[in-house]
Amino acid sequence: MKDLKLAVVGATGVVGRAAIKVLEEKKLPISSYTFFASKKSSGKKIMFMEKGYTVQELTEQSFDKGFDFAIFSAGGETSKKYAPIAASKGCIVVDNSSAFRMDKDVPLVVPEVNAQEIRKNKGIIANPNCSTIQAVVPLKPLDDKYKIKRIVYSTYQAVSGAGRDGIEDLENGIKNYREGNDINVAETSKYELKKFPYPIFNNCLPHIDTFLDNGYTKEEMKMINETRKILNRPELPITATTVRVPVFNSHSESINIEFENEFDLDELKDTLRSFPGVILVDDIDSNKYPIATDATGHDEVFVGRIRRDFSVKSGLNFWVVADNIRKGAASNAVQIVEKLIEEM
Ligand SMILES: NC(=O)c1ccc[n+]([C@@H]2O[C@H](COP(=O)([O-])OP(=O)(O)OC[C@H]3O[C@@H](n4cnc5c(N)ncnc54)[C@H](OP(=O)(O)O)[C@@H]3O)[C@@H](O)[C@H]2O)c1
Repeated sequence: MKDLKLAVVGATGVVGRAAIKVLEEKKLPISSYTFFASKKSSGKKIMFMEKGYTVQELTEQSFDKGFDFAIFSAGGETSKKYAPIAASKGCIVVDNSSAFRMDKDVPLVVPEVNAQEIRKNKGIIANPNCSTIQAVVPLKPLDDKYKIKRIVYSTYQAVSGAGRDGIEDLENGIKNYREGNDINVAETSKYELKKFPYPIFNNCLPHIDTFLDNGYTKEEMKMINETRKILNRPELPITATTVRVPVFNSHSESINIEFENEFDLDELKDTLRSFPGVILVDDIDSNKYPIATDATGHDEVFVGRIRRDFSVKSGLNFWVVADNIRKGAASNAVQIVEKLIEEM
């Protein structure tokens, strides 16, 4: 196999740094790595596999160096501008932003669910939204077996999903509380909010990304539209409420499903248990269910509180937790690169 070159774009951000960590763990057969960020971070040092690398400024010429793969985590605008340039030079881009996810020529991939889509790429592969990734992993085997009729999502999303600024808002809120300032009135908070419209400390904000004309947020519509695309169920009725909560890392979700077919609960649990990437944590007698602090640092999706929804003929409730920075972004992207290499 030829010497493979990989670029990480947005290497200094929350997702970029996690991608670097995952690449270090996975030790893919890649011979050269390059790390890009904006001009602001150019010159910064990154330690990777015990070697120092200098962060380079991303420019229109960056992809002249002949990269095979690039993992982009630098926001939608950067992806829109630079991913097509990279692709035009023969580099396959795995993009973490929402810029291309709903483009019909761009595969939207969670390897456990629809790895076969990777082959259809024309130079760009989209990594789904973090809250969608962890939902579709357990939904896929259930849809295959019982055919999903309707989904209701309610999410409890960590601040790391909003990048460095989101994490800082929670850290500053905690500091503000420890200093004895009024935490309940946004206007009197003694710190500048960098990401959220209200203090995230001591609050749950039913507002992730911007509001749309239909009353939903963009995050809610991402979950709805991306789930339909990944499961290849374009008409599937889905609704979602996405909420930011004062948790540093790992998203939690309540998922309610109605099926076309009836199911046996034990068999359904076995179906979930045997699906790659799913770990069942479901022992209520011992108070065992998935929690954010247990999921952090892992690449699996943790599923529990699995129980019938008695209000409909064939309904189910469960709780799913995953590390939004790893499985929800970095690890999923690296898994896609791994699959691309396997198919070379
Ligand atoms: N956090 C999550 O859970 C999550 C999950 C899935 C997808 N995503 C997506 O991944 C992307 C990155 O998110 P994040 O949370 O890592 O954000 P972040 O912590 O704010 O980091 C942003 C990164 O982008 C770089 N960047 C910004 N403008 C750039 C430009 N013009 N050229 C090159 N690099 C530029 C920044 O470099 P500097 O250091 O130079 O500013 C930094 O490395 C976003 O599109 C986000 O929607 C995030």
